[in-house]
Amino acid sequence: MIKLKSDQEIDDMKPAGKMAWDLLEALKLMIRPGISTQEINDFVHSFTLERGGVCAPLNYKGFPKSVCTSVNHVVCHGIPSPKEFLKDGDIINVDVTPIVGGYHGDASRTYFVGSNISLVARRLVEATERSLQLAIEAVVVGGRVGDIGATIQEAVEGLGFSVVRDFVGHGIGKTFHEEPQIPHYGVRGRGIRFEPGMVFTIEPMINQGGYGTKVLSDGWTAVTADGKLSAQFEHTIAIRSTGKVEILTGPY
Ligand code: MF3
Ligand code: CO
Ligand code: CO
Repeated sequence: MIKLKSDQEIDDMKPAGKMAWDLLEALKLMIRPGISTQEINDFVHSFTLERGGVCAPLNYKGFPKSVCTSVNHVVCHGIPSPKEFLKDGDIINVDVTPIVGGYHGDASRTYFVGSNISLVARRLVEATERSLQLAIEAVVVGGRVGDIGATIQEAVEGLGFSVVRDFVGHGIGKTFHEEPQIPHYGVRGRGIRFEPGMVFTIEPMINQGGYGTKVLSDGWTAVTADGKLSAQFEHTIAIRSTGKVEILTGPY
């Protein structure tokens, strides 16, 4: 069952979305060679609590940290560690989900670490971000969920990249993951119809090589099956009663 939100409820979700945006903006200033993913975790944790929020990932289904940090070939759900240090040329996705006023705001970006970024890493990250922008523009009342996946596939596959199948976007609200599921691959005109009141994430994970993934023995860290790079961007979006599509996770 999809929990449709009133305009008032969508307004009430905006503080969580704004905090997610503020976190991702603030992280631009701290992500550099030499810092550990644990430092990113601790920054996200204190920033969130100081502003009256709660970190949804912490203890979610046993996840041990406050944020997901996914470096290079890690597709998603990377676990911050004091032993993992960023180096020049890495790419890292940071996925934040603050809870503010009882509502979740879920967003992520992939950042470049330092300045020696390979051409393929740059192309992958830029294509992934663009695929999310185009997918958001593809959301219109009366359209269907398959329009999102088709748009993302068209944006990246021509460049030789692939769309991860094993993880999907999701409805979101007072709970972290609600119906519907939002696959990032699909066929235009297929799937459920978009309607006012829907609030969901779009979070394409795009691989340099094949779309296969595997989960490491820690039970969380998802990596590319072929060891090549993966990038991800995520926004939480809402469809107003007027049909207007609003990005709750900024920019503000
Ligand atoms: N933020 C992730 C998402 O986009 C979910 C992370 S679940 C966690 O849906 F437990 F790993 F934090
Ligand atoms: Co999400
Ligand atoms: Co997320």
